[in-house]
Amino acid sequence: MEIVIQPTPAEVDSTVADIVEGYVRAGATTLGLATGSSPIGTYRELAARHRDAELDFSLARAFLLDEYLGLPKRHPQSYYSVIRSEFVDHVNLDPAMVSSPNGEAQCPEKEIARYDQSIAAAGGVDVQLLGIGTDGHIGFNEPGSSLTSRTRVKTLTEQTRIDNARFFDGVDDVPHHVLTQGLGTISDARHLVMIATGEGKADAIAAAVEGPLSAFCPASVMQLHRHVTVVIDEAAASSLKLADYYRYALEHKPSWQSF
Ligand code: F6R
Repeated sequence: MEIVIQPTPAEVDSTVADIVEGYVRAGATTLGLATGSSPIGTYRELAARHRDAELDFSLARAFLLDEYLGLPKRHPQSYYSVIRSEFVDHVNLDPAMVSSPNGEAQCPEKEIARYDQSIAAAGGVDVQLLGIGTDGHIGFNEPGSSLTSRTRVKTLTEQTRIDNARFFDGVDDVPHHVLTQGLGTISDARHLVMIATGEGKADAIAAAVEGPLSAFCPASVMQLHRHVTVVIDEAAASSLKLADYYRYALEHKPSWQSF
């Protein structure tokens, strides 16, 4: 696991955009996209590079991590809508090649199986962007999630519903249930890139990176993965015990080594 501590959120965004750009410029690639506020700056940066530096997404496809169950696609806060308004509408990524779990599915059991199969049929995800919840969730795998879980229906914790109330008219409007890639599904991606900024994420990042491997902190499953890059600002790094070592390792990174 590589921990990249950047001075500001803007530098977090451009570091993550550099990583994604590398995959996109290499040719056909499958991106794993997160929603929520953490990747928004990265999406803006990628849109700017598409506009100003000919970053071409025409050969890319994408899978989303999760979706609210029962929220219509047309709802502005469905992740189907959010990924389009925040990212896809601003680059030349074909919207038909952007897949997400169908929150309106009549039979969620069939939908979760279909979604896992569609990721596998596409050859899996090359690079998966992740945000982290204040309770350590990734995707919507709340504490207690099996570390090998597949896509399924989960119940949001009250804390996550309170955290996400800012996107809705109030906490009562935040759905209770979601469809989410499981921790096992997420771990199948070949490269995981975690994005976190702000002091509010500091304890969750410390638990994920330096705490025990535990379903209590679902993001700790990253410790089992072969290729993880955690890109965070100083505030999100403020509870890390080995922050000085991570800075030292980055400073002395061999020039031939990429993220
Ligand atoms: C959203 C997702 C969630 C968020 C997490 C952090 O697709 O998978 O895990 O990444 O809730 O949300 P923000 O970035 O809004 O703090």
